[in-house]
Amino acid sequence: MYENILVDREGPLAFISFNRPRVLNAMNQRTKEEVLAVLRELEEDEDVRVVIFRGAGDKAFVAGADVKEFVGVRPMEQREARRQLRFYETVASYSKPVIAMIKGYCLGGGCELALACDLRLASRDARIGQPEINLGIIPGGGGSQRLPRLIGEGKALQLILTGDIITGEEAKAIGLVEEAYPEEELETKTKELAMKIAEKSPVAVRLALEAVRAASRMDLQAGLEYEAVLFSLLFSTEDKEEGVQAFLEKRKPSFKGK
Ligand code: COA
Repeated sequence: MYENILVDREGPLAFISFNRPRVLNAMNQRTKEEVLAVLRELEEDEDVRVVIFRGAGDKAFVAGADVKEFVGVRPMEQREARRQLRFYETVASYSKPVIAMIKGYCLGGGCELALACDLRLASRDARIGQPEINLGIIPGGGGSQRLPRLIGEGKALQLILTGDIITGEEAKAIGLVEEAYPEEELETKTKELAMKIAEKSPVAVRLALEAVRAASRMDLQAGLEYEAVLFSLLFSTEDKEEGVQAFLEKRKPSFKGK
């Protein structure tokens, strides 16, 4: 059905795989449109609790935007394409948790996609970076904004100004990825973590996402007030009653998402 991606389901987990291994899964316009279409579909499906991005083949997560599409593009065309698609913004504001499972090259737009995700899990020898400077451009998918928020301005500038590529292990040391595992363990560990999230109350998960995502765009006072509103809102849910009762009765809660 899709030309450039694969979609697989495993219980409450949905996997979106970038599937252009011949070009190291570089994302062209069509790939982004297909991902957005799948995300819209998965959003409607209550059984899907966590979305995981990965790359097909062994070599890459995503080696960046498809550089071939940069040739001859005029500034206003580029601006309009970006404005209409809102690809990275859609991922960053998605209603369910999104995880980047990073094996192999994760460069440029691939790194920016990972930055737009909620969690990044990598293999220790993944190759991560923002090499746009080598093409005479800068990150254009949110890298100049999300990277410094995640790892600090100095480290972000070090990567963006040099174009250096670092390993998954080095990325973990600077907080660019949350975990770095031996490659053979990456998939199992990712599924374990995703399943843990999938078992929680989906309403609480959603509001937790909203609260924490707000932290980078609000000042502390506004953020605390926003958190208080979301916290109170959860006192209207059946899941909160179930969670509290289950704790008091020393049993496992059974959340319904209501
Ligand atoms: N866009 C389009 N095609 C890409 C690509 C990208 N971002 N990254 C890799 N490819 C293509 C290569 O052109 C090559 O295609 P070809 O066989 O038709 O020539 C194929 O993928 C394999 O890449 P190759 O460069 O031969 O592999 P390598 O192992 O020698 O090098 C990289 C791997 C990732 C270091 C190198 O491909 C690279 O630097 N890619 C561009 C990364 C980049 O700048 N990304 C940011 C874009 S904004």
